[in-house]
Parts: sequence; C-alpha cells; structure tokens
Amino acid sequence: MSQTVLVTGGAGYIGSHACKALRAAGYTPVTFDNLSTGWEDAVKFGPFEKGDLLDRARLDEIFAKHKPVAVMHFAAYSQVGESMQDPAKYWRNNVIGSLTLIEATVAAGCKNFVFSSTCATYGDQDNVVLNEDSVQLPINSYGASKRAIEDILDNFGDAFGLNHVIFRYFNVAGSDPETEVGEFHQPETHLIPLMLDAIAGKRDALTIFGTDYDTPDGTCIRDYVHVCDLVDAHVLGLKWLEEGKGSRVFNLGTGKGFSVREVVDQSRAVTNKEVPYVEGDRRPGDCTKLVSGSERAMNELGWEPHRSNLKQMIADAWAWHQIGHYEK
Ligand code: UFG
Repeated sequence: MSQTVLVTGGAGYIGSHACKALRAAGYTPVTFDNLSTGWEDAVKFGPFEKGDLLDRARLDEIFAKHKPVAVMHFAAYSQVGESMQDPAKYWRNNVIGSLTLIEATVAAGCKNFVFSSTCATYGDQDNVVLNEDSVQLPINSYGASKRAIEDILDNFGDAFGLNHVIFRYFNVAGSDPETEVGEFHQPETHLIPLMLDAIAGKRDALTIFGTDYDTPDGTCIRDYVHVCDLVDAHVLGLKWLEEGKGSRVFNLGTGKGFSVREVVDQSRAVTNKEVPYVEGDRRPGDCTKLVSGSERAMNELGWEPHRSNLKQMIADAWAWHQIGHYEK
C-alpha cells in the first residue's frame, strides 16, 4: 500500500500540482483544505478532507484516520497587497493555523514536514542575488507571517525532533502541461494570469504597478519558476527527509530575473496578441527585485528545473487559460 502524505492546501494552485507529483511518485496525497481559496474540482489525485487549520480536533481526526508519513503544508493566504491591509488575517490563519498544524503533527508522531515559504521573507535587498543564508527582513505582513512559521519549525525541530524542509519560493508561474490542474484564483492578483485575462478580453487592461523603480526599465524584477519544477523539488524534499538527512532550507527560483515589461513582451510573443496595459502607481509592499540563488537545491537535492523558462511558463499558462477554470 502506498504511503500517505497530508497536503494542506491541496485544492489550491501549488498544492494541486504537488498532489499530482506525489501521486506520480507513488504516494497517496490526502488533501486538507477549507476551500476558502481552493477548489474541490482541483482535488484529483487522492482523498479530500475538508477542514480548517485552526480546528485542532479535526486535524487530530485526520492524522488518526490517514496516518501520513509526512505533511506538505501549502495552505495559507498569500497576497502581498492584502497582507498590508489586513495583517490579522495573515497572522491568524498563516501563523496560528500553522502552529496548530505543527502541534498536531508532533502529537501524531509524524516526523517529516515540508513547508511552503517565500522569498518575501527576505524583503527588499538592493541588487543582491538572495541565497538561503541571506538575512530575512520582510517588508510585508505576508513575508513576516511566513518567517514566523519558519521560526516555529526550527523551535519544534529542536524540541521534538520534527524534521523539516523549508522551500522559499520565488514567483511561481505556469500550469500542468496536461491541463489536469492549473492556476485559478478568485480574485486573481498575479501578473501572468491577469495579463492573459487582459489579452483574452476577459478583463480590462493590465495595470503595471510602478514604473519608477530603480531597475533598467523602471518596473519590478521577479524570478519566475514553473509550478511543475517547484513541486518536483517538494518530492525530492520529502525523499531527503525520509532518508534522514535532517532539516534544511532551500530557495526555489532560477537565478534569472525578469521585469514586468519583459513579461509583457514575452506574453505578446507567446500569444501573438497585443497586451492591453496602462501604467499605474506602485503597489504597497512590493519589493524592487527578488532573484534567487538556487544552487543549494540543485547541488544537494539534485533538483533540475526543466520548464522554468519564461516562454514555456507563459505558454503553459496560456494553454490552461484556454480551457481551464474551476467552479465552486
Ligand atoms: N504586477 C503588476 N500588475 C498586476 C499584478 C502584478 O504590475 O496587476 C507586478 C507586481 O507589482 C510585481 C510583479 O508584477 O512586481 C509580480 O506580482 P505578482 O502579484 O504576480 O507576484 P508577487 O511578486 O507580488 O507575489 C508573489 C506571490 C507571493 C510571494 C511573492 C514574492 O504571490 O506569494 O511572489 O515576491 F511571496
């Protein structure tokens, strides 16, 4: 019988892709999701258990029922802009919710935990390629909430031997090339899906948030990583833990940054359509430039990103965009 992995947020964008990768690797992914932002339609690769991270009794029940060998924790609110307006939402759900989950994991005797963190924990560090040892100085509540969870994991590792792999994601993009699952947020706030909507005439012009940043073309620079490559790293992280290699932090990005204008240009090239856009003010909480050093994941986990070039990510997102959406 295959081993079970508890996947919180498995009905969301990254979690659903992780479930597909886990299934392909021979595990049974059990999705735990409150469907506040996720979609039951996206749960295709293992059982679904509806529940909330803040509900300890429900978590205990799920651990007892499924006896997971590991937890992959994706469930979180993840909008930088919203986190600046409603920090309590981020501290309550992301931090208190994660603490509840981590306590339940330890109580159930489960020793392996894979956590979805973010480059937003690094904050705005001028012209530096960030690596795992870079100082973490988040400038938004979202990044601060994720950094706090990293600290909780370290403390629980010391106190209870909870082994954890922390992945700090850069900007995740693209979709499953087989279009079984894909990126679909409501409301949508991310650059590439918003741009594809604008190209398809499904919404008004894209607004470029800020053209006066200290970058070559004045727009923010991000390091985009394909969701399929990202979840492959999670399966490698799980194996790392199963092999007893201990707790470790890994960045997941490509080391190459693209400005918002470059993403606009590449989207025009991939879709062969005009990108309607206007130039607007900066969005509060946005860092100027976030680019990853990911040598550690490549050297230590043997991670090999195959689809993380901008053209492929936009092409895969565009293919999903033609057919894909979920219904509540
Ligand atoms: N952008 C626009 N217009 C839009 C949307 C975004 O110009 O309508 C710009 C943003 O200002 C930013 C870039 O496009 O410069 C990317 O923005 P996204 O909203 O797509 O992504 P973020 O960089 O804000 O956030 C993402 C994840 C977070 C993660 C963060 C780290 O959503 O979970 O990357 O930067 F923490």
